[in-house]
Order: sequence, then C-alpha cells, then structure tokens
Amino acid sequence: MTTSEPSRRPRSARTQTRDDSAAPEAARERVEALRIEILEHDRRYYELAQPTIGDSQYDALVRELRDLETTYPELVTPDSPTQRVSGRPAEGFAVVRHREPMLSLGNVFGRDELMAWHQRVVRLTEREDIAFVCEPKIDGLAIALVYRDGRFVQGATRGDGSRGENITPNLETIRSLPKRLKAAKGRPLPPEFEVRGEVYLSKAEFARLNAERAEAGEQLYMNPRNTAAGSLRQLDASITASRRLDLFAYQLGWSEGNRPASTHAAAIAWLHDLGFPTNPLAQRFESIEEVAGFCEAWAEQRDALDYEIDGVVVKVDDFGLQRALGVVGREPRWAVAWKFPAEQAVTRLREIQVSVGRTGVLTPFAALEPVFVGGAHVGMATLHNFDHVRKLDVRSGDDVIVQRAGDVIPQVVGPVLASRAGREDELREFQMPEACPVCQAPVEHDEGEAAYYCSNPDCPVRISRSLEHYTSRGALDIEGFGEERCRMLVQLGFVRSLADLYTLPDQREALLEIEGIGPKTLDALLANLEASRRQPLHRLLIGLGIRHVGGETARALAMHFGTLDGLRTATLEDLLAVDGIGPVVAETVFAWFQDERHRALLDRLVGAGVRTSEDVSSRGGILDGLSIVVTGSLERWSRDEVETLIKSLGGKVLASPSKKTSFVVAGNGGGSKREKAEAAGVEVIDEAEFVRRLRERGWGGD
Ligand code: IVH
Repeated sequence: MTTSEPSRRPRSARTQTRDDSAAPEAARERVEALRIEILEHDRRYYELAQPTIGDSQYDALVRELRDLETTYPELVTPDSPTQRVSGRPAEGFAVVRHREPMLSLGNVFGRDELMAWHQRVVRLTEREDIAFVCEPKIDGLAIALVYRDGRFVQGATRGDGSRGENITPNLETIRSLPKRLKAAKGRPLPPEFEVRGEVYLSKAEFARLNAERAEAGEQLYMNPRNTAAGSLRQLDASITASRRLDLFAYQLGWSEGNRPASTHAAAIAWLHDLGFPTNPLAQRFESIEEVAGFCEAWAEQRDALDYEIDGVVVKVDDFGLQRALGVVGREPRWAVAWKFPAEQAVTRLREIQVSVGRTGVLTPFAALEPVFVGGAHVGMATLHNFDHVRKLDVRSGDDVIVQRAGDVIPQVVGPVLASRAGREDELREFQMPEACPVCQAPVEHDEGEAAYYCSNPDCPVRISRSLEHYTSRGALDIEGFGEERCRMLVQLGFVRSLADLYTLPDQREALLEIEGIGPKTLDALLANLEASRRQPLHRLLIGLGIRHVGGETARALAMHFGTLDGLRTATLEDLLAVDGIGPVVAETVFAWFQDERHRALLDRLVGAGVRTSEDVSSRGGILDGLSIVVTGSLERWSRDEVETLIKSLGGKVLASPSKKTSFVVAGNGGGSKREKAEAAGVEVIDEAEFVRRLRERGWGGD
C-alpha cells in the first residue's frame, strides 16, 4: 500500500516554522489574504446560507491557496482551509461532534483531469482493475444520520466537518427519511451506525414555494440549494415541514460491529433495502472510460432531472482500496467530483458600473438584462478590474455570454461579436470614472497598477465596508452586522468611523427606529458588540484592515509586542525583528501607525474600552519547543480545540509528520499520517498518553 502524497509532503527537512524565510513575502501575504477571504466565504456559505461568490470563484481561491502551499510547504498551517472543511455550527443548535470527519471532494473538469485522477489511483494502489461507482452530485446539503437499534436518533449538518449542528427535529419532518429500520432476515443491523446523504429541494417544490411567495408579495427564493439549506436550519421544525424537502443517502458512515458491506455499491444496495432513498441513476463501472461516458452523458441531460445536480461523484467501489488510498487534507483520494461546465446564456449588457470597496478600490461590474442561467435569475456580474474589461473587450450595449455554475455572482465570458454589426452607435467603451461614483472625490491610479482608488478616506462605502470587515468572523467576530446593516448604519449617520461602533449602545432609542431592528435584535447586537471588546489584540489588528496584515501576521505582531502600545511605538527596526515579518509588511505596518488619522482612530477605540493586549503566556508554555502533529479524531477535543490548546501551551502544530516532529497524537482514523510518522521514525502516541504527558508537565485542564 502506498500512502505518500507527493504534493503535500514538506520539502526535505523543512517544516512550516515561521522563521523559515524561503517563501517570498508576496507569497506569504497572498496566502494570508486568501485564508481570510476563504474563511469569510465559508461562513457566508455554511452558516448564513448566503454565499456572495460562486462555486467556481471559490474553487479558484482554494486552488490558488493550495498551489501556493504546494510550492511553499513551509506556509502550510494546520488551520489552513486546505486542511479541513470550513464552516462552523451556528448558534441556536446543539453541536454534534462527528465521529469521523465529513469530508469534501476534489474536482475534475473534463476527461483529461479525470484520467489524471485515475492515474494517481492506479499508481497509489498498484492496481489496474479498479471498479468505480458514479452518482449524480446533488446540489443540496450534506447530512449525517445516526441509527441506534434500528431507530433514527440523531441527524446533523456537516458544519466544519468535525462538528455540525444537531437538526434532528427538522430532519424528522422529511417524509422519505426512514425513522425505523427493519433488518432483512439473516442480516442483523449494526447496533449503531451512521448514514450520510444529501438533503435537497426538488425543482417542482422550489417552483411551488416561489409561486406561493409571489402570491403573497414576498421576495422570491434564489435557488433550490439555498432554500433547502435555509429550510433545514430553521429553529422551528414546523417551518422545515412546510418546505417538503427530500433526501438521497449516498454513503455508509461509521458502524459498530461488523461492517454490513465491503463495497460502496453493496452498502448502497443494503441502504436501499432498508428503505433509504438512494439515487436510481447510480451505476458501477469497471473501466474509467465508461465512467467518463457516464459523466459526459449527464452533463447533457441534467436539465431533465427534477433536482439540481452540479456534477457526478466518482467513487472507488472497494472499501479496502478506499482505506488504502486514504485522505489528504479535507479530500479523500478515493473519490472525486466531475464538475459540469458552467451553464451559459446570452443577454444584453445594459451598462458597466463601478462599485467601491473597503480600501477604496473601484471594481467594474456588469448591469445586465436579467436572464435565467444556472438555476437563478442573474442581473449582475463582476468584471474584476479595468484591465479585465479591456481584455474581454465588452462594451455597454453588447450582447454578452454570461455563465453561472451554481454560482451566485456570475461571470461575463465575453461579447457576442456577431451581434455588434449595425449597432455600433449603441455601444460604449468603458472608461474608469474620474470621480468616485459614491462621494465624487477624485479617483487615483498608480501607473502600471490595475487598481483605481477613491481618494476620500471618509467615503461612506469605504466606511461601511470597513465596518463589515471589522465585524467579520475572521476579525472581531461581531455577529449581526451583515453587509446591509453596516450600510444602513453608515447611511443613517450612526457610524462615520469604526470607533463610532462603540457609541451605538448610547443610541438605543434612535436605533430602534430603523426598520428590521426590534428590541430583541438590538439587544443581541449590542451584546455581541460588548463581547468584542474582550477580543485579543490580534483580532483587533485584523479588523483594522491594515494592508498585508492577515491572521498569521496579526498574530505574529500581537505575540511579539504583547500590547497595542508596544506596537504603536515600534520602530521600523523593531518590526523587522518580528519573526516572519519582512520589509514590505514592516514598512506598511509602520506607515499605518504613523498616520495621524489612524492614531486618532486607535485613541478612540482604546477610549471605548477595546482590549489592547494579547495573551502571551504561551511564550513560555509547557509545550515550548515541541512540534506536534494531530491525526484522526480525538474523544476529548475537536481538531480546532486541540490545536488551540497546543498553541496556547507554546507548542507548534504541524500539518504532516517529518523528522522534526516531536510526536504524533493519533486518534480514530487518520491512517496515512500515522504510517508516514512511523516511516519517518517519529513516535506515535494515543490520546490518553497525550493527556498523561500534559499532566506530567503541569497542565491543569480537564
Ligand atoms: S460523497 C468523501 N456523494 O458534495 C465523500 N457527496 O463536495 C464525500 N454531494 O459534502 C461525499 N452528492 O454535500 C458524495 N453522491 C454524492 C453527493 C455528494 C452531493 C455533496 C456533499 C459533499 C459535497 C462534496
């Protein structure tokens, strides 16, 4: 059996210590920025069920991050989104810890990439005769169902892959979900086992719900997937019940006692016999050619189905081979998603308009004649930047090709040149405006750079976007300040600077006048705001939106200086002395703290009582100098928790074992890292031994 993963193995003896300066600073910064961005999109997707970018844009971000991490393995950190499934349980639901992580899938686009995936499977298993099962990839919501003594006892969302939300009562409302199972003669049920599947809303049901809403004059749902997600995550199960969700079981999870099957196909047949809805289109093939044929055929016929699919999932059939292939990061090597090409449509580009972001950057976007594509009505598409508009050569008035693959923000592929003939007078080439479209301040542009900026630091859009960033999950994590609310607070004059946020508790009465803010909402908002004052310094630094300062850099600065004062008074040399900070970041941070406006902002934030220190006790922790790898799932902690614990005690968490690893803590599962560790001669200990060692060193936790 082969378990090595060439692309993810740290190069030579190098590990991801931050004092390793081999990766250029630009790469380091980009990795940081990508992680923050991905985290925020995960939150919007998994927690809010309100994504603001589409799957392909998201995939592109993750791909870019993964490529950078492959080139510079020292930049891999255990909390990188490439190492786990993101999204965390929302408040209001009890947390369920998945016994085995719920994974996601790598993508292939087309035959060549499928063949490359197949080659790897063949190489790693050293087998040519591999059978596969192909299933439609349902565009819904992953769930995990637990059965004990034949009864449905618990259902959960995927959440962050390790921990999801307990949505049992909501799942109980799904008619096709079996509540009690009856074993076939001679095949007793395992005493307890888990089934995984996808909850979805059929196209017909989606249309019915929207027709009802149209009748009632309510805003229409965007697409079936978001509606299904929103319906499942209702605290009131009677709302879920009214939405008529459906389910396909697509995987046997863990099971106690004897495994009921030794292949995926047999497991699915067994589930089907027990009464689970399984997808009738699933098919087993013994050659990869047939697999490709199946994928291509369904790409053509997807519209004929009464539910949305965004691809085909290809799985190695044999469980033994699945185990041998194992998992890398958050993706199994034994399965892959063949993603369908984006759906396209032609529509008229009414006008190219410009939006303004947090840093003042102007982004052109296309205002379109609404068109139905990829399962949703599309009226807008991003155009990224001025150079991109020029490259596409799109003009206001053009007919353009728009594409969307389960995407929320669709893309303009290009103009339909043939339809320009005779209409030249109606077309207008795009020019960047000379004044900001929001505040009319002059627009600035550095020669040779793609970006154009609004020059006014007080531009209302810049402030509301800064507020969004400050309150976002990766920064101060103040729930309840979404895009719309931030905009409103700025527009109505409640917030003119970030520091005004903390004056909101004094404006209770006025805030209650705002539509959509009742006393309960306001109390929750203010409580969250209050809690944000206790967030550690590094989160404040992220929230300030200093260029180049993402999570890792903010943490490095906060740990090094300990207090905001220490950082404010740091010289350029002091900054350069920080582990992992190079000249570009040092310069930027130094200049930021010299700026009078920023100093005034900080004075006000400090006056408002935000915390200005970091807990640096871990600088002399009981795990100082130890580099630890955690693999598999532990009983006592989730992955996040154990990593935070190790770091807070001064240890370093490594993604993958190497010679420098002090020891590997192995829980359930996690086979490939264990073997890698053993091969590298690194000690592997179990959870109990890890706890014993912690106690030996004086750890007082429980
Ligand atoms: S298998 C390790 N099978 O796709 C295998 N997933 O990107 C993990 N999905 O989270 C899942 N249809 O929500 C599998 N037939 C199918 C699926 C399917 C839809 C979703 C599922 C999963 C995501 C992976």
